[in-house]
Amino acid sequence: MFRKSNESNRDVATSEELLVIVDRAVNPYLVMFHDPSSYRAEQVRSLRNKLIAMNPDGEAKTLVVTSAMTAEGKSVVAINRALAFAELERQSVLLVDSDLRNPSVEDYLHLNPHPGFGDVLLERVSIRDAIRSSGVRNLSVIGAGTRLAAPSELLTTSRIDAIMSRLKEDYRYVIFDTPPVLPATDASVLAARADGTLVTVRLERSTRAMTRDAIRNLQDLGANVLGAFVTEVRGRDPESDPRFSYRGAEEEF
Ligand SMILES: Nc1ncnc2c1ncn2[C@@H]1O[C@H](COP(=O)(O)OP(=O)(O)OP(=O)(O)O)[C@@H](O)[C@H]1O
Ligand SMILES: [Mg+2]
Repeated sequence: MFRKSNESNRDVATSEELLVIVDRAVNPYLVMFHDPSSYRAEQVRSLRNKLIAMNPDGEAKTLVVTSAMTAEGKSVVAINRALAFAELERQSVLLVDSDLRNPSVEDYLHLNPHPGFGDVLLERVSIRDAIRSSGVRNLSVIGAGTRLAAPSELLTTSRIDAIMSRLKEDYRYVIFDTPPVLPATDASVLAARADGTLVTVRLERSTRAMTRDAIRNLQDLGANVLGAFVTEVRGRDPESDPRFSYRGAEEEF
């Protein structure tokens, strides 16, 4: 029988008799998932379109997403980017969580842990066995798998080249989410072998000098830094500016 509780909300939350349902919401910044017709999603598509325009022959490309410091929005940018490529017809996209120190792609996509990039580096599984479906059309994922304390020891140039060229056989765009550049070398080493690198900059989080150092670091190792994706820009929110709204047209259908 259902029993009406007279307890306070706090007590209710800790009562052992209660059935607790945790609804893990999609991260609000994953705009390609939860708000695909927003201005922010259009910004993500706009960068995707620029990247496609830079690749007129449609060759397979590897892209590294990184930042100077932690928590600048790398993983969210990498996932939004991957979703933006995946929404196009005939684009096979692979997202690789190569942040083996602080992985998050599987968490953000609500996927259970699975052998992943760390296990490929340790030669415990083949690349094929590490690839899994994301649940989104055209988008596959290699999660981080086994965490490694010092991944750069296994990220040798020949190893990375072999992995990247193998992945490019099957995918048009391969996107690597990485650790930040300044605290660890993993991202620079991967970026040096990738076709392009995008730097996420979260204003308030990293200083101009940090971002400059990170970009110099990447370039010194040979990375092709294509540009930056800046988040938390202060000023009027474009979402609330009617001149940026194109929703009216959709609602009429
Ligand atoms: N555009 C944004 N504006 C504000 N907050 C954001 C934005 N994008 C992501 N966040 C939030 O910032 C936090 C860090 O995001 P994310 O995991 O993408 O960063 P990260 O750079 O990958 O972090 P780490 O260095 O730990 O891997 C999350 O809580 C996320 O919800
Ligand atoms: Mg991250």
